[in-house]
Amino acid sequence: MTIAVIGAGLMGSGIALTCALANYDVINIDNSEKSLENAKDTLNALLNKKVAKGKMHNDEKLELLRKIDFSSDFSKIKDASIIIEAVPENIDIKKSVFITIDEMSSRDSILISNTSGLSISEIASVTKRPDQVIGAHFFYPAPVMKLVELVRGLVTSDETYTRAKDFIVSLGKETVDAPELPGFIVNRILVPMQNEAAFMVMEGCKPEDVDKAMKLGTNMPMGPLELTDFVGIDVMLATMKGLYNGFRDSKYRPCPILETMVKAGHLGRKSGKGFYNYN
Ligand code: 3HC
Repeated sequence: MTIAVIGAGLMGSGIALTCALANYDVINIDNSEKSLENAKDTLNALLNKKVAKGKMHNDEKLELLRKIDFSSDFSKIKDASIIIEAVPENIDIKKSVFITIDEMSSRDSILISNTSGLSISEIASVTKRPDQVIGAHFFYPAPVMKLVELVRGLVTSDETYTRAKDFIVSLGKETVDAPELPGFIVNRILVPMQNEAAFMVMEGCKPEDVDKAMKLGTNMPMGPLELTDFVGIDVMLATMKGLYNGFRDSKYRPCPILETMVKAGHLGRKSGKGFYNYN
């Protein structure tokens, strides 16, 4: 079975690798050649580390990479039974991608959005098959994180839900049913906690202290600020804004320091600077 993943950013390429690890043939599509090259390099570097650690043979690595076709040719999605969209978290971009994939894919295929909080019903509304559209929210890094939140839109059919769930389970993941509300389950709880940690930094706490407290006091693998740098401060701020605008509730107000950091280009690990320095 062939899976198409639209978007070759950190999430898209991670989902592509997750599918290849589960033995699917994957087409990872992006209209930017640079993103495709970056995705190839990132996966190659990640798998090289596994080979160096003795966790994978070089032949297995090459076979995995062979399973992923990095391409800018959208017409290839006609061969896929499942299409997963993982483009930036912007409703206009997502809608335009769904118009394209609806037109170019087989009528039997189901269309999955990896949105972390946008409305599945709204995304589905631009297609001619809203009953075949569903949300499946993967977590970063996708090959490692066990959970996928399944989110049904208003008219997602039972058949689409079952096909999506069976597919996610075949990737070795666990699912939960999440409501079609901003942040679903995890981000609605996790991101306000990261936001609160940013407020503490604004009030003068050292990031190291906030993270150490949460790691040693709650057994989190990463502290909230380390995690914000890891996922991207821009991504976290956008999610917080989604909660604030979606619920129109001041308890979700984004911490101003996050706005300033994003404006300064301090986006976390990917830019070399966030709450910590990575250079
Ligand atoms: N892609 C794929 N695999 C990765 C990876 C990546 N980016 N980063 C690490 N890994 C793999 C490694 O290859 C390694 O695999 P192995 O055991 O087979 O060798 C394994 O993960 C462990 O990696 P490391 O030994 O390098 O490092 P750690 O033991 O410190 O674990 C971590 C790294 C798994 C990232 C761990 O710190 C962790 O679980 N952090 C929390 C992650 C988290 O909370 N994610 C959710 C973010 S919120 C979100 O995604 C919502 C969205 O809407 C933004």
